Amino acid sequence: MPSTSNNPHLPFGENKNAPWYGKDILSVKQFDRPNLEYVFGVAHEMRGMVERVGTFDLLKGKILANLFYEPSTRTSSSFTAAMERLGGSVIPINEVKYSSVSKGESLADTVRTLECYTDVIVLRHPETGAAAIAAKAARKPIINAGDGVGEHPTQALLDTFTIFEELGLETIDGKTITMLGDLKYGRTVHSLARLASMYNVKLNYVSPEILRMPEAVMEEVKAKGVAQAEYRSLEQVLPETDVLYVTRVQKERFENPEDYDKVKGAYVIDPEIMKAAKKEMIVMHPLPRVGEISPDFDDDPRAAYFRQMEYGLYVRMALLAMVLGKA
Ligand code: NCD
Repeated sequence: MPSTSNNPHLPFGENKNAPWYGKDILSVKQFDRPNLEYVFGVAHEMRGMVERVGTFDLLKGKILANLFYEPSTRTSSSFTAAMERLGGSVIPINEVKYSSVSKGESLADTVRTLECYTDVIVLRHPETGAAAIAAKAARKPIINAGDGVGEHPTQALLDTFTIFEELGLETIDGKTITMLGDLKYGRTVHSLARLASMYNVKLNYVSPEILRMPEAVMEEVKAKGVAQAEYRSLEQVLPETDVLYVTRVQKERFENPEDYDKVKGAYVIDPEIMKAAKKEMIVMHPLPRVGEISPDFDDDPRAAYFRQMEYGLYVRMALLAMVLGKA
């Protein structure tokens, strides 16, 4: 058999020796500093290519399944855009109620089905550990797009890429990152705290008592020797903060709706509060926001949350190219 790369009818041969070829992306724990810098280097190149040519054929002929058991706007559409900008195509399954899932099909069987038709599967699921279960069942790469309150590794990668691109730093060493809001149920901050702890940063966690950063995540951060501290009020740490990472209180994950009512609106970022912050710092948010950042702040140059979404496109292009052996 001729190799696919020599066959004119199969122009999409891949490099099976590429380090990420065929790998799942389930957790930020899979990344170390050299890996991260590699992802960001590829993402930076993707940014340049999109700015120069818009769309190109790196993944021509490849198909992605976007399997979403939970709502999504940014993650699903940015993976779709990433695949299409690389010349590939997408099977979107975001209304699982119209798929065989509603007939009682297991996640493992759904994934085994989709991998017959596609080259890579992006999965969002309400249960922690679902992405790992899917990866066990599948031969093709699974990319975790959020598993319950567990992890959201591609978001943390794009968040860290945003910090690098925005602050223009060689590294983020020496910087203070303050995470604000729902640190208990917010999976993006679980992944970001783990990823940021690979650098010599200081982490502040500001939340209501009932929404504290989980012990398990703090233990992992501690084991890396990174300084971390918890606060109930933002005022104490805002002046020293280089990156303020705001999160939504995750209403859908509360067992008791009265608890949600007690803490919703606990913190609101607005131009007045931000007078106490540095001039050179950024405010990030994975979005959607539901009141925790006032739209009055949107025109401030420190408001990085809309730019953050765009960085997500480049990081997801990089990850798709990597697992499909094209980077
Ligand atoms: C986040 C998520 O789904 O965890 N959204 C996203 O992916 N950008 C954050 C959230 O829902 O609050």
